[in-house]
Amino acid sequence: MKTITLSAEDIREAVTMAEAIDAVRRGFIDLARNEFEMPTRTVLRDGQFLVMSAHHQSSATAMIKTLGVNFDRDPAIAGTVVWSELGRLDHLVADAGPVTMLRTGAAVGVATDLLAVPEASRLTVIGAGAQAPDQVRAVHSVRPLSRLIVLDADSRRAQKLITTLAPELAGVELQIATDTEAAVREAEIVCCATTATSPLFRASALPAEVHVNAIGAFRPTMRELPDDLLSTSTVVIDQLDAILAESGEIIHALDSGALAKDDLTELGAALTSPRPPAGPGGRTVFKTVGVAAQDWAIAQLLAAKFLPVTSS
Ligand SMILES: NC(=O)c1ccc[n+]([C@@H]2O[C@H](COP(=O)([O-])OP(=O)(O)OC[C@H]3O[C@@H](n4cnc5c(N)ncnc54)[C@H](O)[C@@H]3O)[C@@H](O)[C@H]2O)c1
Repeated sequence: MKTITLSAEDIREAVTMAEAIDAVRRGFIDLARNEFEMPTRTVLRDGQFLVMSAHHQSSATAMIKTLGVNFDRDPAIAGTVVWSELGRLDHLVADAGPVTMLRTGAAVGVATDLLAVPEASRLTVIGAGAQAPDQVRAVHSVRPLSRLIVLDADSRRAQKLITTLAPELAGVELQIATDTEAAVREAEIVCCATTATSPLFRASALPAEVHVNAIGAFRPTMRELPDDLLSTSTVVIDQLDAILAESGEIIHALDSGALAKDDLTELGAALTSPRPPAGPGGRTVFKTVGVAAQDWAIAQLLAAKFLPVTSS
């Protein structure tokens, strides 16, 4: 039996954002086709430990991820991904930090590609922590950027994100903002990646046509988006059970009557539906709390690259 252990560097060298987006898109399509056995994740210590698992039936492969989440630490999220296949003894153990960043960015890339208008090129990112670089990379991969505005409650983090990404964003206008509503006023795409517990802006601050991704809130007590944005947008989510258990803003909007469950479309269903969830124009929202099928998709990609095929 062999255990292949992959560091953050191994993962970053092996997987491009374009590959991650493609793998995660196929993961969401397989989720819609009931290819996964995927329990709602186990939440311990009020969200400070998470255990996620997914079994992909036709490939007889499974992924289990454990995370420790501590926002007083940088990076906040750390843990392990284990991938295995029933027919073989070898398995793969990978650093969960980069897997999580890649798969969360990739989900946003898939949704942005589906929902943002084709010519969208002005992105505003709110929250410049560990997830933010891959949020930008994913959007840039599907909608090449002309302008990036970054805002964080800690301006040093905003500056750090710009410095990190500048070499990858030649020709893109880069700005740091301090006023959230001014920062989103002319955005065509917005990514929210904060730990906020109340909405980051009012819906009235947004243009009439915009696509908003919100990855931050993963507990019922957290919110990034206001009810009036959710009630006036086409809302696509990663998976209904996970969202109903964890997404503070969707739970709030359902409780207040701003949204009904029928207003929510799962990403996999949107990708496989012959009718697009939104016509051109208007406001669209992608809300994700993160599901194990995404981690499986990246782990499967890593297994294909690092575990040689055996003839068992
Ligand atoms: N949806 C998913 O699949 C997924 C995956 C990973 C992380 N997350 C969540 O996304 C969030 C960000 O994760 P991270 O690892 O980047 O965390 P992080 O702590 O590294 O970064 C969060 C950033 O948000 C900023 N912030 C907080 N409140 C703000 C506000 N009101 N306005 C502006 N900036 C604000 C903080 O200063 C910080 O820089 C967390 O809540 C995390 O749990 C979701």
